[in-house]
This record gives sequence, C-alpha cells and structure tokens, in this order.
Amino acid sequence: MARKKIALIGGGQIGGILALLVAQKELGDAVVLEIPEKEGMAKGKTLDLMESSPLLRVDSNLSGTSDYNDIKGSDVVIITAGLPRKPGMTREDLLEVNLKIMNNVATNVKKQCPDAFCIIVTNPLDAMVYSFKKITGFPKNRVVGMAGVLDTGRFNSFVAMELGVSVVDVAATVLGGHGPTMVPLPRTCTVGGVPLTELLSQDKIDAIVQRTRQAGTEIVKLLGNGSAFFSPAVSAIEMAESYLKDKKRILPAAALLEGEYGINGYYIGVPVLIGANGVEKVIEIKLSDDEKAALMNSLEAVKKAVAETKL
Ligand code: APR
Repeated sequence: MARKKIALIGGGQIGGILALLVAQKELGDAVVLEIPEKEGMAKGKTLDLMESSPLLRVDSNLSGTSDYNDIKGSDVVIITAGLPRKPGMTREDLLEVNLKIMNNVATNVKKQCPDAFCIIVTNPLDAMVYSFKKITGFPKNRVVGMAGVLDTGRFNSFVAMELGVSVVDVAATVLGGHGPTMVPLPRTCTVGGVPLTELLSQDKIDAIVQRTRQAGTEIVKLLGNGSAFFSPAVSAIEMAESYLKDKKRILPAAALLEGEYGINGYYIGVPVLIGANGVEKVIEIKLSDDEKAALMNSLEAVKKAVAETKL
C-alpha cells in the first residue's frame, strides 16, 4: 500500500508540530506549503525533521514548498495558513486578513486535491471552515473544522488538574462555536465512569467551564506573541488519524449542520463520527433547555462572523 500523502498548508507554529506528529505516528508523507517568502523555512523545518527520523525510527518523507503542484493528490489537507492572535485580539479580529488567505488556499486545494479530507484550523474557525466549504464546494463529509477536540482537551485537562487524576480517564464534550460562547457540557463528563457532578461542586465545575471558554486567550496572554500550537496540532492529528485509519472515533468538531440541533447551513461544534468517509455522522445529544439556549447563543456569534465573510 502506497503511503498516504498529507498536505499541511501553513508551516508556522502549528504546521511544524503537525509535521512532527505526522512523522512520529507514521501517518504518511507530509508536504508543508508556505508562502514564497517562507519557502525556505518550510524546507528547513522539514529537512530538520527528516534528519530526526532515524532517531525517531520512523519512515516518513517530509518536504517544504510554496508550489501547489507539490500537494497534488493529497489524501488529507490540514490548513493552518493565516495569522494567529496577539494579546488583546479576539479570533474575529483575524477575519478579514485570514479570509483573503483562505480564499487563495481553498481555490488551490480544490484544484490540486479534489478528493482530500480537509481539516481547517485557521481562526476564526467557524467562519473559516464555512468559507472553505463555500469556495471549494466540496461535500460536507470532507470539510471539517478543528475546535471541539481542542476545547474538550482543555476542559478535560482542567478537570484532571483539579481532581489530581489521570487525564486519560476524563471524557467530556464541548459544543458550539470556537470562542467564549462555546458550550462545555459538564453533565456529559465522566471520570473513570464516575459522573463529574458527583466528584466536584457546582462552583468548581463552573470555574472549569469558564476557564475552558477563555483557555485560548489565557495562552495568548502568556505567550505574548502568537497563540496555542501544541494542543491545536495534536487535536487536528487525532481527526486526521481517525480518517486515515477508519477508526470511527466520535470527536467534537465543527461540522456543517443541515437540520441537526435545529441548525441549518452553519458550521458549529458538535460530536461527529470520523471514519474512512470523513464526517460520517453528526451525533445529536438531547440537550436541556439551558444547554439548548447556550448553543443558540453560540450560534448567534457564529452567524455574525459568517455574515462578515459575505459568502
Ligand atoms: N499560504 C500558505 N501559508 C500561509 C499563507 C498562504 N496564503 N498565508 C500565511 N501563511 C503561513 C504564514 O507564513 C505562517 O508561517 O501560515 C503560517 C501560520 O503560522 P503562525 O503564524 O505560526 O500561526 P499558528 O500559530 O501556526 O496558527 C495558525 O491557526 O489556530 C489558528 O489562530 C491560529 O489562525 C491561526 C492559525
């Protein structure tokens, strides 16, 4: 079986970690595509990684380019091209500049990788994945946004920190847009099979929900120049791996809803099943009235960002 080909559009902070993870997990060969001015950086990073592969004991060809011909026929495309936030910025502040980038990227990906499973990471996430879908016209099962895996990872890590238990045992889900209106669902969280609500007080749970909503901003403030990159990369790779290995994992992600949750025509975070056919299914959770209201509130924020794309 020929190795899979994975195109990483954007070779910055997240793109570099993505390349490392593709190699380390031997998911396939990776091509990192950058703007012409940064082609050298993409080539340098990937060569550096290639030279670590004998030590990692993995076989994966990694290359850098600024030529879209080099990503031709990729099985998976992960897009991180675009500006990250600086302290004081919201994800929406990135919309105008990142939309221009997404326009260019989507047009080229459509030409070179018409059959790829595409994972969008660029912010503002819900509007960027919507734009990519509109511009490419790809079927909805092959265009998905990475947000929920990351937001859930953050929630789960805060729960584990608070309880002093293994993160491996914490399971939960986060719905909604990738921003402060997101909807963590503590009700669905279990720790080794024990409901979180039986392990922590409501106050503690509320504090974790609040921290999760602001977790990206917390990192932006600390870094001072740029946004989170390890956890977004790991999250996108989980999604790519579930597709490439047909693992059929249920992961929260931004999917195009067409009636599910009473939402139509928008990308928003919900649990989806990812397998060899991409987003094979949207899983609908029965929500309480409060949860429904919170999701609708988040949808309003998504709608506002999408309206700004004028697509
Ligand atoms: N084509 C390819 N790459 C591009 C393009 C383009 N048209 N425009 C910009 N890039 C590249 C930049 O040159 C840069 O190297 O995208 C890279 C982005 O990398 P970083 O600035 O390091 O940002 P990163 O932390 O990786 O985040 C990327 O993901 O989570 C989101 O908010 C984040 O929108 C941001 C994106």
